[in-house]
Amino acid sequence: MRIDIISVVPALMNSFFEHSICARAAKAGLVEVVFHDLHDFSEKKHKQVDDYPFGGGAGMVIAVEPLSKCIEFLKSEREYDEIIYFSPDGIVLKQGLVNQLSLGENLLFICGHYKGIDERIREKYVTKEISIGDYVLSGGELAAAVTADAIIRLIPGAIGDESSALTDSFQDGLLAPPVYTRPASFDGMDVPEVLLSGHEKKIEEWRHEQAVLRTQTRRPDLLD
Ligand code: ADE
Repeated sequence: MRIDIISVVPALMNSFFEHSICARAAKAGLVEVVFHDLHDFSEKKHKQVDDYPFGGGAGMVIAVEPLSKCIEFLKSEREYDEIIYFSPDGIVLKQGLVNQLSLGENLLFICGHYKGIDERIREKYVTKEISIGDYVLSGGELAAAVTADAIIRLIPGAIGDESSALTDSFQDGLLAPPVYTRPASFDGMDVPEVLLSGHEKKIEEWRHEQAVLRTQTRRPDLLD
């Protein structure tokens, strides 16, 4: 899989992608994440990429020219499964959408900044708009990093234990059950006995019961 990310501040994401599971997946050749600095596509003297909004008002808008030039350049090199713009207007990211995106081969992410991008880019190129929650971030970079992380960890081989991505919260519509490690007793609190029993079927049943219980108490909306 390849993910191209267009941003005016790619440095915001560099460290994350260099130190996370994403870096391991990249090293193993499972994914390639490529950043594109929008300033490199500006023909203005000071590599300016934004302009004042028509009609007035506060804030700047990322202009059509550098962004369309960058997108056209990338589209001439490969076909994208989705061209995604991160915005609070988008559909809220859920595990189902992450699963769907993880099946793609090439994804193009566009990060907005300032007041956002010129509407005509959204009309002409964007195939999906994604929000990571009902709050406003100062740019799309964190949303792009969150989305890429959620996708990349699903690629077979990206995380150590291949079965564990499938046992994540949300994969079966339930929150994950509690987990424990050594010591078996801490401050008078003992690990549930069934987990020490070695009885695989009973452990599986206990985990499922706990997942249902946890979902009922913390996120009953998921059971609707
Ligand atoms: N850009 C600004 N706010 C955002 C949000 N909540 N989700 C995705 N992109 C954004």
